[in-house]
Amino acid sequence: MINDLMSPVDEKARILQLRDELHRHNYRYYVENAPVISDQEFDFLMHELQDLEARHPELFDPNSPTQRVGSDLNNEFQTVLHSRPMLSLGNTYNRQEVADFWQRVSDGLMGAPFQICCELKFDGLSISLHYEDGKLVRAVTRGDGVQGDDVTANVRTIQSIPLQLPAGGDWPREFEIRGEVLMPWSSFDRLNAEREKADEPLFANPRNAASGTLKSKNSSTVAQRGLDAYLYYLLGEGIPGDGHYQNLEAAARWGFQVSKNMRLVSTLDEVFAYIDYWDEKRHGLPVATDGVVLKVNSLAQQKSLGMTAKSPRWAIAYKFQAEQAETTLRQVVFQVGRTGAVTPVANMDPVQLAGTQVRRATLHNADVMASLDLHVGDRVLVEKGGEIIPKIVGKSPLPAPPLGECHKATAPTSPLFSVNEALPQRGSGEGAAIPFVEFCPVCGSKLVRYEGEAAYYCPNDTGCPPLILGRIEHFISRKAMNINSLGPETVDDYYRRGLIHDAADLYSLPLLLQRKGELPLEGKEGAKILASIEESKKVPFERVLYAIGIRFVGEIAAKTLARYYGSMDKVASATLDSLLQINGIGEVIAGSVISYFANPINRAFVERLRGYGLQMEIGEQQKQAQSDKLEGQSIVISGVFGHHSRDEYKALIEQHGGKNVGSISAKTSFVLAGDNMGPAKLEKAQKLGIRIMNEDEFLSLIGH
Ligand code: IVH
Repeated sequence: MINDLMSPVDEKARILQLRDELHRHNYRYYVENAPVISDQEFDFLMHELQDLEARHPELFDPNSPTQRVGSDLNNEFQTVLHSRPMLSLGNTYNRQEVADFWQRVSDGLMGAPFQICCELKFDGLSISLHYEDGKLVRAVTRGDGVQGDDVTANVRTIQSIPLQLPAGGDWPREFEIRGEVLMPWSSFDRLNAEREKADEPLFANPRNAASGTLKSKNSSTVAQRGLDAYLYYLLGEGIPGDGHYQNLEAAARWGFQVSKNMRLVSTLDEVFAYIDYWDEKRHGLPVATDGVVLKVNSLAQQKSLGMTAKSPRWAIAYKFQAEQAETTLRQVVFQVGRTGAVTPVANMDPVQLAGTQVRRATLHNADVMASLDLHVGDRVLVEKGGEIIPKIVGKSPLPAPPLGECHKATAPTSPLFSVNEALPQRGSGEGAAIPFVEFCPVCGSKLVRYEGEAAYYCPNDTGCPPLILGRIEHFISRKAMNINSLGPETVDDYYRRGLIHDAADLYSLPLLLQRKGELPLEGKEGAKILASIEESKKVPFERVLYAIGIRFVGEIAAKTLARYYGSMDKVASATLDSLLQINGIGEVIAGSVISYFANPINRAFVERLRGYGLQMEIGEQQKQAQSDKLEGQSIVISGVFGHHSRDEYKALIEQHGGKNVGSISAKTSFVLAGDNMGPAKLEKAQKLGIRIMNEDEFLSLIGH
């Protein structure tokens, strides 16, 4: 309680005392699950601290328990270099390979005795936390293993991660601890239920939800989503001892959440017993796990076993097989996605699978469906892997039970656009064969299949509602027009209400608002939407060309075309021959450009965009800065740079006619390498004899 008579010195002492106390209560509540005070008492102390901190802004501490709530400030993620690369683990689904691992370790240690620490493999995303003087100073995602994103502001909101370690602990002055950020099932279910209600797209699994959340620019969103973290790897000079398990025990004493389900074992049989136990029991855990991790316990032995190029020789991950269940197929419905891809979805009798009731499963595409040779009433095997949506993996030889004994298959919650192909229900596995649809179930167009693609598509991208929505979403997306204040839900809403029919209509929204005042665009939200629509008129031509949604014209092709032709008019009137002359433009893209502009609906759409003032040609500056010094070259960027960011180098490569590619192959012209180039990349480049160029050499090559 604030005592008005407290002196500033007392207040400072009280702030420090409250912080310390609240850190300890947080730990008891979130890590030990054993609070010693009531929620009300906790809130009371928290309020006292908040009030005192408000009176003493000079004592601000980002690690204060009051900062767990996050802020609405945008945090841009800085890329930072890992002090030690974050490697991943070798994976196996196979028990023999676990035995082989055991043997390799034993041979590598020349028969010396060793212990293995068996741990659960948490299914989230890995994080590296840095502590100095007991304070959390930095949290970094894995990224590419060499460098990751600094997500400290977001990580501070995760209650089970200590911001300040209790005074007097035997923690080293500086250390790093790695672990997994997760979204517990309870938070995941709550989040998806909220999203369903708000008509927002659902997260496929807790891992995606955790990773989407941790990358949120708004740390108060992170705070609300209930993330959790388990720590499983302690690194640094002064860590307590030679045992990995014992070090984690120490970390647990310092206040970190460490799994209580780790076991130290000395025989392969014990490893298998651990695997068997958790394969079954993991479904009762509050968080998703997808296997177990086996680590040699002694750090000295780890060191002597060493690493391969990608992963340590002293550890392996054994992944659990996805769970399967058996049920009866009742019908197949065909859904049309926003790209036009048609996905067959099975409706089945409800069945319990990995802790939830399942009644729908994806059949992926026509080929998968054909290979399963499905009939109404077939007994089918359903599997749930990492994804929330289960899949049918095969048929079971057993006949189906008579219909009377089955639960009645209920209709699926209707997606935005799907048509149920009502099929007779026989229940014996001898029902009608189920063919793939030939016509779009939404608009009736004949479906097409593009070469090399598994899916059938509805080609009616200017007339079929899900495709029109897909095109609008693409148009407003970040790399296109970046109208970021409009989410897919608002777009759907406007479309359903007939306010917009295509992306160009977005630019008539301000007018519509003036005239009819009927959009929900009042206030701050409305002003933001209108401002970002207006702002998008400045987006450079190459992105406009990408945004209009010519099939197969991705970001890179759009840049190439924009650079080559310089204006929309020239692209629109380009001939097939001229298009095919361009490096990087093949028949598929060229044909697609021709057919896009051959369609009067598309031409009219582009003209309307021009009318609204969008950029239809490349800017003067850009024209001058361009050259073709890197024409036809494929360049890989790797490492960390001093003069420019990676994105800037990417832009420079493109400005000079080169192509930035992701991985090294025999076709790579050279690697633009900064500091700490990934070891795997380096090895590959050397093996293929590909030139490695540093940034100064590169800049002088392009004349900068
Ligand atoms: S140890 C060098 N322990 O699995 C060893 N990783 O495929 C570093 N993971 O990137 C990792 N649970 O994100 C370790 N108990 C555990 C783990 C674990 C989950 C993740 C981690 C890592 C990936 C490896």
